[in-house]
Amino acid sequence: MPEAVAFQGVSDHSGLYKFSVNESDRFWGAVARQRLSWISPFHTVQNCDFSQGKIKWFEGGKLNVSVNCLDRHVQTCPERVALIWERDEPGTEVKITYRQLLELTCRLGNLLKRQGVRRGDCVTIYMPPCPLAMASMLACARIGAAHNVVFAGFSSEALADRIRDAQSSTVITVNQGVRGGKVVDLKRTVDQAVQNCPTVQQVLVAMRTENTVPMTDRDVPLEEEMMKEDVVCEPVAMDSEDVLFLLYTSGSTGKPKGLVHTQAGYLLYTSLTHRYVFNYHDGDVFGCVADIGWITGHSYIVYGPLCNGGTTVLFESTPVYPNPGRYWEMVERLGINQFYGAPTAIRLLLKYGDEWVQNYNRSSLKTLGSVGEPINTEAWEWYHRVVGDGRCPVVDTWWQTETGGICIAPRPADPEAEIVPGMAMHPFYGIKPALLDTEGEVLSSNDSTGALCISQAWPGMARTIHNHHQRFTETYFHPYPGFFFTGDGAHRSKEGYYQIIGRLDDVINVSGHRLGTAELEDVVNQCPGVAESAAIGYSHDIKGEGVYVFVVLKKAVMVEEDVLAQQLREMVSRSIAKYACPDFIQVVRCLPKTRSGKIMRRVLRKVVERNTDELGDLSTLDDPDSVHEVIRGHRRLLNKDTSPTASP
Ligand code: WTA
Repeated sequence: MPEAVAFQGVSDHSGLYKFSVNESDRFWGAVARQRLSWISPFHTVQNCDFSQGKIKWFEGGKLNVSVNCLDRHVQTCPERVALIWERDEPGTEVKITYRQLLELTCRLGNLLKRQGVRRGDCVTIYMPPCPLAMASMLACARIGAAHNVVFAGFSSEALADRIRDAQSSTVITVNQGVRGGKVVDLKRTVDQAVQNCPTVQQVLVAMRTENTVPMTDRDVPLEEEMMKEDVVCEPVAMDSEDVLFLLYTSGSTGKPKGLVHTQAGYLLYTSLTHRYVFNYHDGDVFGCVADIGWITGHSYIVYGPLCNGGTTVLFESTPVYPNPGRYWEMVERLGINQFYGAPTAIRLLLKYGDEWVQNYNRSSLKTLGSVGEPINTEAWEWYHRVVGDGRCPVVDTWWQTETGGICIAPRPADPEAEIVPGMAMHPFYGIKPALLDTEGEVLSSNDSTGALCISQAWPGMARTIHNHHQRFTETYFHPYPGFFFTGDGAHRSKEGYYQIIGRLDDVINVSGHRLGTAELEDVVNQCPGVAESAAIGYSHDIKGEGVYVFVVLKKAVMVEEDVLAQQLREMVSRSIAKYACPDFIQVVRCLPKTRSGKIMRRVLRKVVERNTDELGDLSTLDDPDSVHEVIRGHRRLLNKDTSPTASP
């Protein structure tokens, strides 16, 4: 890192890490001055107080994120490819240069202004990965509006919830999406959603396919209107701590929360991690196959790579379309140097065998990344040995929507440093992890396991929950006073390496997608005939975790289990998304509860994981018979099921 020459006493990677946490102001101050283009300089590096959930970085500074991601690269290398849109149909990719992306962004920025979008407004974007989605995000940044990207797999109700909570008056979407050879009617989903969103005044509709869709007075044809706009759009000078975007994510209670990220700190943190965790160099092609609707897409498809002047891939398809060789055929065709994906896809692909990988030339690959959920050793080894031919480091990167960017990952370390399969290994610059026990004591020795916390602020962290600052402090700062609590458990090995164990709260991780059990139960409980329910995650060999729901029916309700299951699945798809659909639904007479009425999920989880010998202390149970009923019902359900991958 070039800045390091100015840091006294730093001569190697571990020295630089120590400097970054001990002299955090000097470290981040120097990096921010060096790597971002400022309209006016900041006067204070950080102003943070975990006890109030106050996090402010680079106060006094003004900048524009889109200028940092576009204009400054257009000045030096206008014809460099900024993004490669890898469309669903292989071989039909579209390349867009920095100059072109800036033009698209400016036209869109002007259109948004003409439509009345002002600085401080929040625009909801419901689009599949496509250049106009990216340009929409950047256009918001350019004119000072915040964006709220909603994953285009979410249902109309989930979309409506997010639009309402964000108080958006403008939504941007496409007529239809295309994924895995199938057409998806996204505009129709938006139409349904906005019926229940009184704030929405206009919907901008881009044309991903040639099919016309019904348009109303509210709808604006995006391409047509954008072509009428000028290719120059004056960037707004934003304060470091103005909102850049909201992104909704599931927590352990009820409704999803809109995490807020701001301008300078987020941009700096994503670009620095992108550069050093993946060892990204000028001219490399960076292939992150996440969807832009998740934080991974925001940080490592859009902001990190573009801030670094990189070439980034925007992947529209699926790992198995048109066949399980898709990723590697794409790697060969696009010459991808860093490939960043999810363990769930790796586990799926390894089942199809090595040929699908070996058929393609992967010599361009230099680094392989993994994100979103724990990667088991078998998947890690296969990724390393087969995909990377044993030559590419596999970086298992741990982070969250809340952290903005990667916090724990094997690199940066010295290039020869050991990487243990399945371990996230080392904290990134400026990140000081701590493990705490149930009493709230810091576990200072190695070879210990506890709640993963972070002891000091870093520029990429979320600033608040939109409209719920109290929920923000309660969720992240109250459980362990003085620390940011991640919700995950971790182990620190004898050597001091970190390994993530998984969530400690009631959040299930289905194929890398977060799902709150309470959120799911809310939906299930609305199903006619259902009195109450309990949702748990169980380990699933491809998805990481599957969803298992126990249902108690209202008195005198008679319904076939299959019919009920069908109804519940439809309701969950309609209210949340397809990935949230339960794999198993078991009807029980009553749920195991403590005498104080709390559902004992621990017991349910043990039954489903078939650890019935270790049910633990049942003495607090109100009705021990309920457990036996659950066990019997579970066996019956398994005997009925014949699909090999579903069995918990
Ligand atoms: C989990 C995704 C193990 C973790 C970037 C975290 C991981 C949640 C890893 C955040 C990893 C993410 N190893 N678990 N490398 N990366 N997780 O907000 O439980 O969608 O809290 O952000 O995913 O999910 P989110």
